[in-house]
Amino acid sequence: MARVTLRNLCKTFTDQQTKKDVVAVNNLNLEIQDGEFLVLVGPSGCGKTTALRMVAGLEEVTSGEILIGDRVVNDVPPRDRNIAMVFQNYALYPHMSVYENMAFGLKLRMLPNLMWQLSHPAEAKKIKEEIDQRVREAAETMAIPHLLDRKPKQLSGGQRQRVALGRAIVREPQVFLMDEPLSNLDAKLRVQTRAELIKLHRRLGVTTIYVTHDQIEAMTMGQRIAVMKDGVLQQCDTPLKLFNEPVNMFVAGFLGSPPMNFIHDAVVAKNGSGPYIDAGEFQIPLPAAKAAVLSDYVGKQVVFGIRPTDIHDKSMVPNNVEHGAEVRMTVDVIEPLGSDATLFLNSGRQTLVAEVPADTRAREGAPLDVVIDADAAHVFDKDTEKTIL
Ligand SMILES: Nc1ncnc2c1ncn2[C@@H]1O[C@H](COP(=O)(O)OP(=O)(O)O)[C@@H](O)[C@H]1O
Ligand SMILES: [Mg+2]
Repeated sequence: MARVTLRNLCKTFTDQQTKKDVVAVNNLNLEIQDGEFLVLVGPSGCGKTTALRMVAGLEEVTSGEILIGDRVVNDVPPRDRNIAMVFQNYALYPHMSVYENMAFGLKLRMLPNLMWQLSHPAEAKKIKEEIDQRVREAAETMAIPHLLDRKPKQLSGGQRQRVALGRAIVREPQVFLMDEPLSNLDAKLRVQTRAELIKLHRRLGVTTIYVTHDQIEAMTMGQRIAVMKDGVLQQCDTPLKLFNEPVNMFVAGFLGSPPMNFIHDAVVAKNGSGPYIDAGEFQIPLPAAKAAVLSDYVGKQVVFGIRPTDIHDKSMVPNNVEHGAEVRMTVDVIEPLGSDATLFLNSGRQTLVAEVPADTRAREGAPLDVVIDADAAHVFDKDTEKTIL
């Protein structure tokens, strides 16, 4: 197992038709700790796959360094990097059984040619036994021992994905690289395989870089999450830290479902008791500590952010809400989700999404008094989109 370090990593592609340069990865700095499960997340096209392929050695680095352990691997060929990669479109050899698919890579690596095997029968037998043991152990780990004799076409999508993972495990790599490995699975299987991958990581403890565009996968799987946008790393931290203390509007809006509400034309106003947020149709008084941070912004436009779970039905406000702003809104739509309900609210010009317990008394088309938890307020600079509060 090993630490993986990316230093000022850049990748520029030249578009063959327009001859224009595309910066796919822009000065990426990351250190993935030995044994860590790090998720690289961001919208499609932000450079995740390119970053991963550079670590794998499948894509040449434009500039910067990649280290596995203490060794710079920029010029080390993929097969000597001791990594295993699992893709979204895992290619199993169709004419080989599951067993042969899993053993194939090991045989290539561990067994010298047939001439040698014939002249060293005892050694060859020993290596074959070791390969057999590793394949059977990996099959056990992925719960597929009963499938070893089947051909890929006799397997379901989920089973094939397990075989692909099993094939990666038998190699006992220092690092796992996974590029959206669950996106071809149906919803139920995806949730199940997600849990299995987490268990697998706990058991084997192999350093893993896991790429996904799915923020729920990122939040549930990552020990740390690195959020990318347009080739640039925005923030890398634990899921809770990213959720509660995003550095900018992009991270704030990307993680969380339904996403954070933004009021783009809020103004920091001031009265006798200090700065507060003026959203036009309603005002949000801020607790003293938060108000103090905003004193430089009095009179300026800012972006106000509040998560749907921090807007409460007034008749069922949790006890831990200390500073609330009461607002009367109209309920446009209610989406019941079982234990919770998503409310789409409007106050004329502003619209907000709230997530409240399913036994809310909200009715579509009727007014509803809600309480916005002022301690959970986020405020962003309108120009830089960076977090102020
Ligand atoms: N071989 C290539 N040639 C030119 N542009 C590429 C190539 N591969 C990727 N890109 C571009 O680099 C950017 C990042 O792509 P990619 O790493 O695949 O993003 P992601 O995996 O986050 O969806 C995109 O703009 C994509 O079009
Ligand atoms: Mg990709």
